[in-house]
Amino acid sequence: MKQLLNSTFEGTIKVPGDKSITHRSLMLSTLADGRTEIHQPLRSEDTYRTMEIMRAIGAEITEEDDKWIVESKGHANLHSPKEPLYTGNSGTTSRLIMGLLAGLGLNAEFSGDASINKRPMDRVQKPLLEMGAEIKLKDEKYPPVHIFPSPLKGIDYNMPVASAQVKSAILLAGLFAEGTTTVRESSPSRNHSEIMMKQFGAKLETGDGVISIEGGNALTPSEVIVPGDISSAAFPIVLAVLKPGTTITIKNVSLNPTRSGILEVLEMMGANVDIEELPSDGEAIGNITASYTPELRGFNISGEIIPRLIDEIPILALLAAYSNESCTVSDAEELRFKETDRIRAVVDELSKFGIEFEEKEDGFTVIPGEIDPKPDIDVKGYHDHRIIMMLIVFSVVSNTPINIDDSSAIDISYPGFINDLESLRKDA
Ligand code: S3P
Repeated sequence: MKQLLNSTFEGTIKVPGDKSITHRSLMLSTLADGRTEIHQPLRSEDTYRTMEIMRAIGAEITEEDDKWIVESKGHANLHSPKEPLYTGNSGTTSRLIMGLLAGLGLNAEFSGDASINKRPMDRVQKPLLEMGAEIKLKDEKYPPVHIFPSPLKGIDYNMPVASAQVKSAILLAGLFAEGTTTVRESSPSRNHSEIMMKQFGAKLETGDGVISIEGGNALTPSEVIVPGDISSAAFPIVLAVLKPGTTITIKNVSLNPTRSGILEVLEMMGANVDIEELPSDGEAIGNITASYTPELRGFNISGEIIPRLIDEIPILALLAAYSNESCTVSDAEELRFKETDRIRAVVDELSKFGIEFEEKEDGFTVIPGEIDPKPDIDVKGYHDHRIIMMLIVFSVVSNTPINIDDSSAIDISYPGFINDLESLRKDA
């Protein structure tokens, strides 16, 4: 990583496939009867956890150069796993399989790594119990999660938190429940499940924060082309905006509006970012070019935009530190329940370099001021991929060597991150 310091960056890259879309494509193709091709999937620790679990309930999955092939005999022929399942660090795998396994009426147990075993699962258990599921949690909240066979019926559920994971778990359970299942969300969370379920033939309707799915209809296989993940693209984009002499283009990135809140914040700040939309039948996609921007305005974000950029808040905190105006994030208490408490992690680690924060329960304000890039400070990554990549971008932008305790968690979402930055070095 130290080779990236004192460099400028220029060129074009493709970031890896979208994590949320890759998880869902593995799950829906397992439920469908037949053969599905998944093109440009994200090959990462998290998505391999979902792949192994789909194999454990009966899918046959083969990997080729740029695609995965899923062959399944359909939902009625899947079976309970023989061994307890392992979801690793993946919140999406953990939450979504609760709905999927309960909907299939299977008997299963799963747990994950130290982080997953501390993340709340009762937010998914609650609506599933209302549907008739039988699910037991440790201390009524955490993994290990035990799911027992039980018939489900549709419910009408008002979601207390805007969470695509909770929404998707309910919709997956609703696929095979008796009657119609309706989910109501107050702010739009990512809608990849809805888009893909329709593509696989589910009887699903969406409108004005209400999603309804009719139970009991089999899915049919469909080809999936996974666009680049905007949450991964966010790191090279911010690097380009903050690093003098740098211009980076990222091709084929998902521009789904339920995910692209970061582009709106970059626009508010006056960052040099150009978006070229590309034709697409499914998820919106485009090419993004970002370049160094010497003066950045502040921002104040809250409410409906938060779920649309929830995973980008650590890197936005770094961007905020380079603005001449104050920047505030509110209504983001969900960050405290991610891979780590991301509000704490951001404040604790960036404060080590003189960046001044006012921490709040649901966010923070970054106070404009001088950054003090002291070299060789020990920083913690909390085994959280997005905290680690944010710290690496800080190190590269400020030419400050840092000692991260462990950066292996990058493999959770963006295994080629350092190589991609290396390929963009102008003076390499
Ligand atoms: C995800 C939803 C988000 C996000 C996570 C992936 C998904 O979580 O933070 O990285 O794929 O559904 P919540 O829906 O719990 O906010």
